[in-house]
Amino acid sequence: MRVVIIGPPGAGKGTQAKRLAERFGLSHLSSGDILRTQKSSGSELGKKLRTYIDAGALVPDEVVVAIMAGAIAAQAKDGLLLDGFPRTLAQAQALDRQLEQLCLPLELVLVVDVPDEAVVERIVGRRSCPKCKRPYHVKYLRPRNDGRCDDCGLELQQRSDDTEETVKKRLAAYHAQTAPVIEYYTGAGRAPVVKVDGRGSPDEVTARLFEVLGAQAQRKRRGQATEVTARD
Ligand code: AP5
Repeated sequence: MRVVIIGPPGAGKGTQAKRLAERFGLSHLSSGDILRTQKSSGSELGKKLRTYIDAGALVPDEVVVAIMAGAIAAQAKDGLLLDGFPRTLAQAQALDRQLEQLCLPLELVLVVDVPDEAVVERIVGRRSCPKCKRPYHVKYLRPRNDGRCDDCGLELQQRSDDTEETVKKRLAAYHAQTAPVIEYYTGAGRAPVVKVDGRGSPDEVTARLFEVLGAQAQRKRRGQATEVTARD
């Protein structure tokens, strides 16, 4: 399956995408993780990215599209879960063009719905593993050993853009630039869009998402079986 997960900052996209990718055998591509890796590389591009990310602004479309295109081309055939991309209409159109060229259309857009007031606490309390990027929360998703990743044992870190002030800017960018992407997919019927309630515990949200993706996987299997029967 090729799936996009959309939602405001702190909606739980990263947390849920990791679980969904594991459960459904998809490659999880997080544009935020990919851009942060570049940012900390010390390269000229990394320095440029820092100015956007730390200010809570979106990185220019042409830069993100070029970075994501390579990763998408490498993974699209085996199943893909895109987290944080596309985030503007121009990015959505670029993704459509690339998938069309690969003859591998997008199959599902998951929208994780969380009100603005809930995301600030989630983001300010987030900590993540510098190696595997697994996200935790000081209150809602604590590691087994205080301050250390359950999987890697490394000390958890706080992202430089996870401040209250920056979150407000990221939320404003989401409403102005990313919300129209949902309309883009819904309006022209480009891909099925399913809104999922992102409130409640991480496990409750996972259960809702597993249900939606499970149903989509079943539809796909049935479609393939029908195709084989018709060919026979
Ligand atoms: P990115 O890394 O994509 O950040 P974001 O969209 O702001 O989303 P977050 O990673 O903050 O949140 P999330 O929804 O993944 O939540 P998480 O699961 O971690 O982008 C960062 C920056 O990179 C952008 O601002 C931009 O500059 C740039 N960028 C990236 N992509 C770009 C693009 N396509 N174009 C242009 N620029 C781009 O959860 C958050 C916290 O809440 C965690 O601590 C978690 O443990 C906790 N939590 C999760 N679920 C729950 C729950 N149900 N209840 C309580 N706590 C929960």
